[in-house]
Amino acid sequence: MPWLLTRMYAVFVCVGVFAFANGYVNIALYKQAYQHNSEAGDTFNASNAVDGRKSNLSVDGGQCAVSYWGKKTATWWVNLYSIHSIHHIAIYFMTNNQPLGPSNLLTKYILGFSVYVSNTTDRLQGTLCYKDDNFTLFTMPAVFTTTCPVHGQYVIYYNERRQGVTNPDDYSKYVFTGLCEVEVYGCPATGYFGSNCSVPCPDVNCQYCHIETGTCQGCKPGYQGHRCELVCDEGSYGPECKQICGQCREVNQCSNINGTCLTGCDAGYQGNFCKTPCDRGLYGFKCNKTCGQCRGLNQCSNINGTCFTGCDAGYQGDLCKTSCDRGLYGSECNETCGHCRDLNQCSNINGTCLTGCAAGYQGNLCKSPCDRGLYGSECNERCGHCRDVNQCSNINGTCVTGCDAGFQGSLCKTCKC
Ligand SMILES: *[C@@H]1O[C@H](CO)[C@@H](O)[C@H](O)[C@H]1NC(C)=O
Ligand SMILES: *[C@@H]1O[C@H](CO)[C@@H](O)[C@H](O)[C@H]1NC(C)=O
Ligand SMILES: *[C@@H]1O[C@H](CO)[C@@H](O)[C@H](O)[C@H]1NC(C)=O
Ligand SMILES: *[C@@H]1O[C@H](CO)[C@@H](O)[C@H](O)[C@H]1NC(C)=O
Ligand SMILES: *[C@@H]1O[C@H](CO)[C@@H](O)[C@H](O)[C@H]1NC(C)=O
Ligand SMILES: *[C@@H]1O[C@H](CO)[C@@H](O)[C@H](O)[C@H]1NC(C)=O
Repeated sequence: MPWLLTRMYAVFVCVGVFAFANGYVNIALYKQAYQHNSEAGDTFNASNAVDGRKSNLSVDGGQCAVSYWGKKTATWWVNLYSIHSIHHIAIYFMTNNQPLGPSNLLTKYILGFSVYVSNTTDRLQGTLCYKDDNFTLFTMPAVFTTTCPVHGQYVIYYNERRQGVTNPDDYSKYVFTGLCEVEVYGCPATGYFGSNCSVPCPDVNCQYCHIETGTCQGCKPGYQGHRCELVCDEGSYGPECKQICGQCREVNQCSNINGTCLTGCDAGYQGNFCKTPCDRGLYGFKCNKTCGQCRGLNQCSNINGTCFTGCDAGYQGDLCKTSCDRGLYGSECNETCGHCRDLNQCSNINGTCLTGCAAGYQGNLCKSPCDRGLYGSECNERCGHCRDVNQCSNINGTCVTGCDAGFQGSLCKTCKC
């Protein structure tokens, strides 16, 4: 029936040219398309609905997106790659090259469809442009057009036959996509409106304005207010002022547009946005200070350098940068140095006497008196003839309880002869 086809095409032409005689472009053409429940290969591929071809509207013509039969939902979307200003959407349904109507088996699968514009692939996060509760087997058009002057990145076609929902008698039991072409007319760039997409949005800081009226619908990053006349509140920035500034040195010097801290970061933070704490082991303004001798993982507060888990042996203070006081050493400076020759040379860390022991003591820590019978510097001297060798002073060799018979002097080294 070539006359029928001719008439059908005449209708398409009318819709395409006269209903919207303007400069909007089909921003869906050749973009990425996707459908649920899809067979692999080219014949029914989702991208067939954005390939510009719509001369053969049959199921096997290779020009239509067709999902599996026998499903309760059908979902198809096109990704416009960025948020676009949309004016209207035209859908060329699969018709098997016959007029739609009660005698066309495909008609009942279309009824009840809906069209969304969303910023994600989730239709429920977007705007419902059209939900069919209007058409019947007799009135369903082969080409459907809906005006939807919103901004979005995805145009989603959806249909369902939900369990427990009573549909009109002329609805099919199952649904599938069956879309030969989905044309999304709008502006190629944001920030403009008008039928030629050539008029800049009237409000200077408006990014998304109504495609017909120019009323602002969304501001450029960093601005807010009905006409985007206000910068973001202090401490916030970016799209819809939804981002929170980092630890800027001066909170009013956080760029409302991109969040950069224009005069640098507060102590403890680094990076353009001052959202990154100092690297481990560093702290303070510009992260230019080094943590002290913190216990364990050298973990100190990125802001003020306080050690979280106390100090390593030999150090004290919140920052663990101070050695133990003179004469003390070890964990929490709890240990007392031994008899070092020079107490200033007692290791704050382990108590070792670095320049040796005072007279009468031995060992690294100089905590042990000389062995029995010895005394003096480095325990190098031998006690004299003390009555009780245990009573020979380890320090100076004095026999505290006197001498053996035949000896005299405090060291009992002199013969009484
Ligand atoms: C549909 O076609 C595109 C591009 O030609 C291809 O990358 C994709 O794999 C096809 N999808 C399926 C389900 O075959
Ligand atoms: C559509 O494509 C099918 C399958 O290739 C073919 O049989 C049919 O003749 C085509 N119809 C038209 C109108 O081009
Ligand atoms: C998409 O995001 C833009 C910018 O945030 C917003 O103006 C628009 O309303 C959103 N579109 C939808 C459909 O939610
Ligand atoms: C409802 O269907 C009638 C045809 O029956 C059509 O003229 C009208 O435009 C449709 N309304 C909408 C909102 O699609
Ligand atoms: C759109 O462009 C046409 C042709 O260049 C011009 O005649 C018309 O005035 C323009 N319309 C607007 C609203 O700019
Ligand atoms: C961030 O915005 C400020 C103005 O607020 C500008 O000077 C700076 O160059 C921007 N930085 C980047 C990385 O875009």
